[in-house]
Amino acid sequence: MMAANAKKIWMDGRLVDFADANVHVLNHTLHYGVGVFEGIRAYLTTRGPAVLRLKEHVQRLIASAKFYHMPIPYGPEEIERAILETQAANPTYPSYIRPLVYRGEPALGVKNIKGKVSLAIAAIPAKKYLGEGSDAGVRAKISPFRKPHSDSLPSYAKAAGNYLSGYLAGVDANQDGYEEAILLDSNGYVAEGTGENVFLVRNGKVFTPGLESDILLGITRDTVIQMASDLGYPVIEKLISVNELLSADEAFFTGTYAEIAPIKQVGHFAIGSRTPGPVTQKVVAQFQRVIKGEDPKYHHWLAPVPELARVVAKVRA
Ligand SMILES: Cc1ncc(COP(=O)(O)O)c(C=O)c1O
Repeated sequence: MMAANAKKIWMDGRLVDFADANVHVLNHTLHYGVGVFEGIRAYLTTRGPAVLRLKEHVQRLIASAKFYHMPIPYGPEEIERAILETQAANPTYPSYIRPLVYRGEPALGVKNIKGKVSLAIAAIPAKKYLGEGSDAGVRAKISPFRKPHSDSLPSYAKAAGNYLSGYLAGVDANQDGYEEAILLDSNGYVAEGTGENVFLVRNGKVFTPGLESDILLGITRDTVIQMASDLGYPVIEKLISVNELLSADEAFFTGTYAEIAPIKQVGHFAIGSRTPGPVTQKVVAQFQRVIKGEDPKYHHWLAPVPELARVVAKVRA
């Protein structure tokens, strides 16, 4: 996913060349996983390039950092501006933007909360996270690896260390020939994918696990909940058993990188008719309208990326 093709990376207030975006090998985040990050997308809309749900991503980044004792030395507006600058300096679309909050200085010792907190932001061309065929449906494996309970690792913080279980689950699923893993929570209910939330449809109603299943409260999840409700579908957050998922009429993943990916198979069980069902299709079509800027009702979700010339003038690198 992360190709080495960002032109400029924003590091603590400066846009630096890709090759110069380095930190010390003894940094705290690398050793203990104490870093928080975001995944954000920018699209070319009918009204120009725009970042989808920028404010919500920045809010989540700040909340994740606060929880892990890493106060970001920039306010929300400064971070939003830095993200827009980074995107304007790397003007390919669709784009995937990765802000990372970390302690980059050499500092061993688990309990270090003193080191300098840094922010880096990269913007790279976005691809299909779950493969080129993912619009037609993906195959997912119920993982033998479960989500850690939030009493140990709170799932609402998007922290680097949280991704160890997703890493094990995702590699295991890929090695078994599946595009994605579905992790269960510690009680055996459906939680989420490695980088996506899970939805299912039954009898025209839409269901998705809630925070009690140790999920990340995805921003695409929220986008889909709002769009599906506006389309007239009841959306219910509840504990979801594996059997409910296997016998669903339709199911799909949602995530910034994966966008909305229909699930056609879980393990050896076909979901519905193995093709995107009618509710999934409607939600996907509405999402496409939203990200193209075609539905004025959701224009407030799209933050315009300023002209490159304006940003170049500001570059202090
Ligand atoms: C573990 C996990 N769950 C869910 C999601 C979906 O969240 P969002 O829609 O905010 O990208 C992500 C992606 O960030 C994730 O990493």
